[in-house]
Amino acid sequence: MGLDCASVIYLLCFLLVIVNAQRSADRAYKPVVIVHGIWDKRTSLDFMANRIREVHPGTSITVVDLLHGTSSLAPMWEQVEAFGAVARQINTENPNGIHLLCYSQGGLVCRGMIETLSDLNVSTFVSLSSPQGGQYGDSFLRLIFHKAVKKTVHRIFYTSPGQRYSVANYWNDPHHQASYIKHSKYLPYIDNVIPEATNESYRTNFLRLNKLVLIGGPDDGVITPWQSREDESVENMEDRDIYKQDLFGLMSIQNRTKIYTVEGVYHHQWHQNISVIDTCIIPHLD
Ligand SMILES: *[C@@H]1O[C@H](CO)[C@@H](O)[C@H](O)[C@H]1NC(C)=O
Ligand SMILES: *[C@@H]1O[C@H](CO)[C@@H](O)[C@H](O)[C@H]1NC(C)=O
Ligand SMILES: *[C@@H]1O[C@H](CO)[C@@H](O)[C@H](O)[C@H]1NC(C)=O
Ligand SMILES: *[C@@H]1O[C@H](CO)[C@@H](O)[C@H](O)[C@H]1NC(C)=O
Repeated sequence: MGLDCASVIYLLCFLLVIVNAQRSADRAYKPVVIVHGIWDKRTSLDFMANRIREVHPGTSITVVDLLHGTSSLAPMWEQVEAFGAVARQINTENPNGIHLLCYSQGGLVCRGMIETLSDLNVSTFVSLSSPQGGQYGDSFLRLIFHKAVKKTVHRIFYTSPGQRYSVANYWNDPHHQASYIKHSKYLPYIDNVIPEATNESYRTNFLRLNKLVLIGGPDDGVITPWQSREDESVENMEDRDIYKQDLFGLMSIQNRTKIYTVEGVYHHQWHQNISVIDTCIIPHLD
């Protein structure tokens, strides 16, 4: 027998290394895919990405490098396709799933991806100050069209040419709901509120999420109001038909949902606020 003491020790060490490597592979954090919002630049969300790297070393983080600046006004379905292709690619390399961390308009893009891409394995979806109920407010509107007025812009947005802008795709004017349902090409579809266009797979796909994290707050200033639909009367999420009828799964997923209402954060600060990132986001990125 040629196994001397040194070889045995060597072999043991080798085995230990294998076991340890296996352990850290099991423990590895899932990749995080970050989707930006309107007007964001290539580097806008780097602070948040770097903070996650710092707290969760070794995490693979992709700030998707697509549709910046004015291109962020591209129609929503085009954005779902473009960002979805990148997320899918990362998912293919990581079949145990990915996390989607999506800011502002990006949160609506991500919801579209989750509902329509049945092969995407998303573990946690973080919607960071996203207008999930649509937009109806002047402050947001003027970021894009300086002279537009919320009361009249439906005349432009609810037309075919108007629908070429992302914002028009989720403009939800409470005073012109019939027109919204008829002309809007995005939000009423992913909300599953158009009876003739209901798609059960949107709901099934959404319910494959492990966790839904919704973050917003009253001092946002841009997502108006922060519950997302500005009106004389704002409905709570739980009072909306979309929720009560569980049209895309929001009610069914409630016990896997975490809602953070944070005060004192302006819209452009969400992804730069360490306390928000550390408290509301990172604990959900396992
Ligand atoms: C998705 O990921 C989970 C682990 O997070 C894994 O158990 C499951 O098999 C994956 N599903 C697919 C379809 O790859
Ligand atoms: C429902 O959505 C899925 C995913 O986008 C699509 O493949 C399917 O064709 C849609 N079904 C109907 C009836 O439109
Ligand atoms: C969460 O809700 C679903 C149905 O809505 C239920 O089947 C499941 O048991 C619940 N899970 C927990 C942990 O309460
Ligand atoms: C950061 O977030 C905290 C709440 O967690 C808030 O009180 C504070 O004002 C925020 N700071 C900035 C600069 O937005």
